[in-house]
Amino acid sequence: MKAISITPNIYWVGGIDWDLRNFHGYLTPLGSTYNSYLILDEKVTLIDTVKHYLGEEMLARISSVISPSKIDYIVANHVEMDHTGSLGRLLQLAPQAKIITSPMGEKGLRRHFKQDWPFQVVQSGESLSLGQRSLTFVHVPMVHWPDSMVTYLPEEEILFSNDAFGQHVASAERYDDELGWSFLRREAAKYYANIVYPFGAQVKKALAQVKQLPLKLICPSHGLIWRSFIDRIVAEYSRWADHEAEEKAVIIYDTMWGSTEKIARSLQSGLEEEGIPVVVRHLKTNHVSDIIPDVLESRLVLLGSPTFNNSYLPTMGAWLTYLKGLRPQQRVGLAFGSFGWSGQAVSEMEAVMKALGWELPLAGINLKYIPDEEELVQVKEKARELARYLKNK
Ligand code: FEO
Repeated sequence: MKAISITPNIYWVGGIDWDLRNFHGYLTPLGSTYNSYLILDEKVTLIDTVKHYLGEEMLARISSVISPSKIDYIVANHVEMDHTGSLGRLLQLAPQAKIITSPMGEKGLRRHFKQDWPFQVVQSGESLSLGQRSLTFVHVPMVHWPDSMVTYLPEEEILFSNDAFGQHVASAERYDDELGWSFLRREAAKYYANIVYPFGAQVKKALAQVKQLPLKLICPSHGLIWRSFIDRIVAEYSRWADHEAEEKAVIIYDTMWGSTEKIARSLQSGLEEEGIPVVVRHLKTNHVSDIIPDVLESRLVLLGSPTFNNSYLPTMGAWLTYLKGLRPQQRVGLAFGSFGWSGQAVSEMEAVMKALGWELPLAGINLKYIPDEEELVQVKEKARELARYLKNK
């Protein structure tokens, strides 16, 4: 294992999690990385560590340039264990190293590890000299935990952004342009939608500070380092934090005997005829973490379920739980479904969308038994009406 030089005397020394397929409920078919960065200066400094089972990989990479025992500072930008899981192992080798963290970081690390480690708490805006270089710490609470902090190295214009701007991608490449904008944007969007989505207001505050900094590199703690697409990813974060979306639709549904699916297809047809691109996501074949990026991208969100045991199907319940937690705003919604004798699913889905503050310009579609041809024509016309509403907004 080798350290990878990113500038003279600054190295990537992280761990690559090739086999990760589920990150606390978020499907990660491409794996991930936990990025640690080593700065060789008068004070040797490590920015963040890695998940516990990749600790030896991180130590081997560090050891390829310097003994881990020489480390003076370990910056813990964030308490979560994918970045602190190897702190204990590292401190066995470098017991004199100080852990630089935010006040909430110290509380969280003490609570989690129950160790009397040598902490040095830093306030937002505080700087620490390493010798030739310095680090400035900026607290970014709730991006995405209360303890979250980013670290800026002004002499080389590098932002160590921890979870912000991350992507869950395991790769041999280390830089954005090696994998390309459209691929990396998609992965960054999936990451934002699943991890950062509820905290748009806090992201905006953090971006206001980031935008004032000259940036040559953004070094996140997951995935690829941004060097060629910095302006683009910062602009995308601004859009996502503002809950902006495209004039697109996503239809998310489940079906029992096919009636709700017929409605979904008619809605798709009507929207397409009005020129709205449509993504269709069946809840039995798509994981919730793969659907939420479509909500991030789409202004129009249509939810469909038949009524089952006086409510929606359990798959829709799981999706709505996920959706409510991530709190997308400024969407236009429509609920649809079929029923045999009661029919509560549509109003219950509408209640969730209303609670999220979404606009519901049209009444939900709730059809008894199997929709006939005439009803499906009416459904299609309703979709066209919805598309026209969206375009005239
Ligand atoms: Fe990558 Fe919030 O940890």
